[in-house]
Amino acid sequence: MKNKQSNSSYTVTAALPYANGPIHLGHVSGVYLPADIYVRYLRMKKKDVLFLCGSDEHGAAITLRAKKEGVTPKQIVDKYHGIIKKSFSDLGISFDVFHRTSEESHHKTAQEFFEKLWKDGKFIEKKSEQYFDQKHQQFLADRYITGTCPKCQTDGAYGDQCESCGADLSPMDLISPTSTLSGEKPVLKETKHWYLPMDRHEEWLREWVRDGVVDGEQFHNPKEWRNQVIGQCLSWIDGGLRPRAMTRDLDWGVKVPIENAEGKVLYVWLDAPIGYISATKHWAEQNNKDWKKYWCKKEANNRRLIHFIGKDNIVFHAIIFPILLKDHGEFILPYNVPSSEFLNLEGDKFSTSKNWAVWLHEYLSSYPDKEDELRYVLTAIAPESKDAEFTWKEYQARVNNELVAIFGNFINRTVVLINKYYDGIAPKRHELTEKDNELIDSLNLAKEKIAKNLELYRIREAQLEAMNIARAGNKYLAEQEPWKVIKTDEQRVETVLSLSLQVCATLSIAFYPFLPKTALRIQKLLGLNECYWFEEKSVCVEAGALIEKPEMLFKKIEDDFVDKERERLKLSSK
Ligand code: MF3
Ligand code: ZN
Repeated sequence: MKNKQSNSSYTVTAALPYANGPIHLGHVSGVYLPADIYVRYLRMKKKDVLFLCGSDEHGAAITLRAKKEGVTPKQIVDKYHGIIKKSFSDLGISFDVFHRTSEESHHKTAQEFFEKLWKDGKFIEKKSEQYFDQKHQQFLADRYITGTCPKCQTDGAYGDQCESCGADLSPMDLISPTSTLSGEKPVLKETKHWYLPMDRHEEWLREWVRDGVVDGEQFHNPKEWRNQVIGQCLSWIDGGLRPRAMTRDLDWGVKVPIENAEGKVLYVWLDAPIGYISATKHWAEQNNKDWKKYWCKKEANNRRLIHFIGKDNIVFHAIIFPILLKDHGEFILPYNVPSSEFLNLEGDKFSTSKNWAVWLHEYLSSYPDKEDELRYVLTAIAPESKDAEFTWKEYQARVNNELVAIFGNFINRTVVLINKYYDGIAPKRHELTEKDNELIDSLNLAKEKIAKNLELYRIREAQLEAMNIARAGNKYLAEQEPWKVIKTDEQRVETVLSLSLQVCATLSIAFYPFLPKTALRIQKLLGLNECYWFEEKSVCVEAGALIEKPEMLFKKIEDDFVDKERERLKLSSK
C-alpha cells in the first residue's frame, strides 16, 4: 500500500513563547519537545519540512512585565529573547528559524496582512464605550483588567479569558472590573476599533473542525485531531462566536496601518501567529527560498501546516487564525493543531509569579551534559491527553530505572562483550534460531509502532516503544547467556552478539528523534553514520566492523541530587 504521507511536505510551528520570562519545563514538555521530536522524525524520513518558532514580543504580557521590572518593553524582550533562544538550542530543539515579532520585517508582514483584510471588507469598524484608567490615561483590555468571571464566579479573571474555567471573555463581561495598572475602578470612554466578525464564520468552521471539509473539499482527517481540540472548538462555535476587536489602544505593538488610527496597535493575537509567516520569510530570504512554498495555496502543493501548542492557545490557532488565513485568501489552513494539556510541578501549578518552576536555562547550566535525560523524562510524562506532573523523584526513577538500567545497560553489555571476546571486531552471524527470529520480528514491529505513533503525534507512546527495543535486547541477552555459552559453543555466541549489535544499531536510529545526542554517541561507538529512518535499508553493523571501547551513556542520579533540587525549588519560591 502506498504510504499516504509519501508526497506531503510540512510546515511545523511551535507556539511563539512570550518574551516576558524564561522557558520552564511545562512549556518544553507540552509544546517544544514534542514538536522537535516530530520534526526530527520527518527529517529522517527525508521529508521537506520547515520548523518555525520565535519570540512573541507584544501584548500586555510584555508591557506589564516591563512595568514590574521598571524597564522598557524593548529591554524586556531583548533580555528574554536571548535567554529563550539559547536554552532551546542547548536542549537540542532544532528550529530552522527562531525569529522575533519586534523585527521590522514582522511589522511589515503583519501590517500588509491587516491592510488586505481591511481593504477586502473583512473587518467592521466600530465605536464603543470601553473601560479606561483615568490615573494612567489608558484604555484597559485583556490583561490590563481583571474582575469576577460571569461564568464560574472566580475572581481574577482577565479581560480576554478566565484562566479558571477557560471562558472567552471581553472586559464588559467582567463583574466588578478593576484596572491592573492602578487597582482602581475604571470609567467608560468612547473609542474606535476594528472587529473580526467571527460570528459570520461559524458555519464553515464547524464543518472544517468536525469533518475536515471546506467547500466540499477534504483538507484533513478529523480522526487525527485530538479529541480535546475538536471538543473545545465545537463548544465555542456552538456557544456562538462574537465579533472580536483586532486592534488595541496601546503604544507597544504593530501600528495599525490605516488612516485615523493613531495610538492604535494590532491585537497581539492577530500579530503573533502572523509571526510564523514572517519567520518563514526571514528564513527564506537567508536561504534563497520562496516563502510562498510553505504557506500559499498555489505554491504549497500538498503541504501540511501543523501547529504545536498548549491548550490555552486552542481558540487562537484553531478558530481565529484559520479565519484570518481564509479571509486573506492566499493561505492554506492548518492540517492539525496538536494541543497539549498542562504539566504541574511537585504537586502545584507552574507559576512564574510565585517562582514555582524549573527554568530550562537554569537546569541546562547546572547539568550541561544531561539534556537527553531531561528530554527523556519530559517525553515520558508529557501531558498529551491529560494534565501530568513533574517531580524530581520521578526524574530520578526514570533516569535510573529506564535510561541507566535498561537502555544504557543493554548497550554497555553488548559493547563490553564484543570488546572482551573479539577485541572490538563485530562477529559473524550463523544459523538463526527461533528466538533470534523472534527478536528480529520484534525490532520490525517496534519500528512500525514508533512511526505510526509519531505520525499521530503520540510522542509519549512512541518513546515507550523505542524503550521496548532495549527491553527486548536485555531479555534476549538474559535468555541466551552468551557469557555461559562461550565455554561450549563459540559460534552461537557470535550470532547472539551480532544480533545484539543489530539491536544497538536499531536503538541508535529509533532514539534519534527523542535523544539525539545519545543516539549519535551510540552510532559513533558502532562506527555507524546513519541518519535516515528505517525504510530505506535495514540497519546492521557489518561483520568485521570496529566497535569502540565501552563508555557509560547515562549516570545514576543519587538521592542527594533530588534533595538538592527540591530544596532549591522551595527556597526560591515566593
Ligand atoms: N505567546 C503565546 C503564549 O505563550 C503564544 C503565541 S502563539 C502565536 O501563549 F501563534 F500567536 F504566535
Ligand atoms: Zn470562569
